[in-house]
Amino acid sequence: MIRRALYRFRQFLFAMSASMNDVDWHLVGRYLNIDEMALFKRLPSFEQKHCVVVAEKIEELIHGRHDVDERKAIKLGLLHDIGKIEGHLLIFQKSILTIIRFLLRPLYDFLADRGEDKNSSRIFRKFYIHKHHGAIGAELLEKLGEDREIVICTRLHDFPTKHDSMYMKLLAEADSTN
Ligand SMILES: [Fe+2]
Ligand SMILES: [Fe+2]
Repeated sequence: MIRRALYRFRQFLFAMSASMNDVDWHLVGRYLNIDEMALFKRLPSFEQKHCVVVAEKIEELIHGRHDVDERKAIKLGLLHDIGKIEGHLLIFQKSILTIIRFLLRPLYDFLADRGEDKNSSRIFRKFYIHKHHGAIGAELLEKLGEDREIVICTRLHDFPTKHDSMYMKLLAEADSTN
């Protein structure tokens, strides 16, 4: 539990200081098409940076491996949190939600459940999107005709045990160590 808390705190500090640079945009431009890029640009900057860091970590993990489709794996890293575009969370709001989820899970679920309706209050909506960003992102990607494995891993990335694939394992490792 303490390790997880420290990890979250490190993530928060990273998010506070992270911003996209030219090298990051170059990587994104190499892998995403126009439609995917349009979605990516709608993410808050700290989430864009997080996705780039995850994609780079995946790149590192698959270095020298021939059993992985590099393009698919890196795109998955870049797009896995795309469901957050509608949440419009600021860094401090995200930190508060993450802390509530960590310490007060029943309250987090209660508030998220109240945000299912698109017309519900903004604060409930933020909780809902935070909780369900995997499924929301998968729907967005499905509409773009995205690769099936990318869609499934995006949908289930908060529950990696539900989908046992190489791409899911890569994403789970890269998403938890950055
Ligand atoms: Fe996520
Ligand atoms: Fe993530």
